[in-house]
Amino acid sequence: MIRTDFSNGSLHGEAVRSVRTVGDLRDYWHNPLAADLVALQPLYETETYFSKPDGTEGAILWGSTRLFPGDVGGEYFMTRGHWHTKPTHGELIVCVSGTGLVVLMDEGRVTTTVELGPWVTYHIDGTLAHRTVNTGSEPLIFWCAWAADCGHNYENILREGFSRRFFVE
Ligand SMILES: [Fe+2]
Repeated sequence: MIRTDFSNGSLHGEAVRSVRTVGDLRDYWHNPLAADLVALQPLYETETYFSKPDGTEGAILWGSTRLFPGDVGGEYFMTRGHWHTKPTHGELIVCVSGTGLVVLMDEGRVTTTVELGPWVTYHIDGTLAHRTVNTGSEPLIFWCAWAADCGHNYENILREGFSRRFFVE
């Protein structure tokens, strides 16, 4: 059991925390050399409530992400993004605060976006690759609920990227 804090989106209790830096995503950026200049800068923090171990069929996992504002060579801060290896298994996202985008891409590399703002709730279809982008000046804080056995494929995104990137205008 954990407590989900509606005042700031954080999870209290038995949540597993991790931090990603700009450098952790080095080769996901349009300009990796720009990432090298700020490699140690925190990019996003996650807190995950593992109701059951990762991969457990039928279990639901619950996580909070705090994606900081900023850019790398003009490209807005973003998460890595991934495909689910089981396309029948989607994911629910609830934005707590901040502004940004969910970026969705189908197998034909057609990209669409959903605008995120406070309490926007959206079901991400399991057939679509997805990442989030912070286009605002505040942290983009959101919760996700996903099937523990959805499977995550980050490698294809690292190799092929999304067909759209989002830059400061
Ligand atoms: Fe996902």
